[in-house]
Amino acid sequence: MFLRHPRLGVYACAALAAGGLILSLAGGATSVASAAEAAAPEAPAPAPEARSVWDGVYSAAQAARGKKAYDTECARCHGDALLGGEDSPPLVDQEFLKGWYGKNVGRLVDQTRRTMPSDGPGRLSRQLCTDVVAYLLNANGFPAGKADLVNDATAQKQITIEAKK
Ligand code: HEC
Repeated sequence: MFLRHPRLGVYACAALAAGGLILSLAGGATSVASAAEAAAPEAPAPAPEARSVWDGVYSAAQAARGKKAYDTECARCHGDALLGGEDSPPLVDQEFLKGWYGKNVGRLVDQTRRTMPSDGPGRLSRQLCTDVVAYLLNANGFPAGKADLVNDATAQKQITIEAKK
């Protein structure tokens, strides 16, 4: 009967809700702590995936796509064999690599996208630049793996360009 009373009904619900909130806050705190303790041994926080260009970070099919794009967009300056020409530098071997050791693949993709082709930069998609960089890695002797180099700046920044140990 008192629940039918509109005002009492509201108060009763508010009191029940407030009581429930306090209970669930108190209960929540302990259950979060115990869940963390229980989960800790099985699920340690995953370390960020740091890799190098020696870990097979692109696929052969992607390098083939990248070569096509290179032939269309880059070869007229950097040469069919990536050896450079006139004022365009080579994109293979030590002359190229020495400037990139210790840097990451994401930076190479982003710099290419921002500055190339030098006579009209900014119109190539990041995906295309990612594929071309897969081809550059291939041409520089870094091994292909099973999966594509994903067009994701954060993931690409985890991949270091390293000299062979
Ligand atoms: C019109 C000529 C031209 C075209 C086309 C061109 N480049 Fe370049 N590229 C240059 C020149 C000139 C430089 C050196 C000056 C500079 O870095 O801006 C250069 C530098 C570079 C560098 C830096 C080299 C280093 O030693 O660090 C990369 C990487 C590069 N180009 C990649 C590409 C890729 C990939 C393409 C195709 C998408 C491309 N370029 C298209 C002229 C060109």
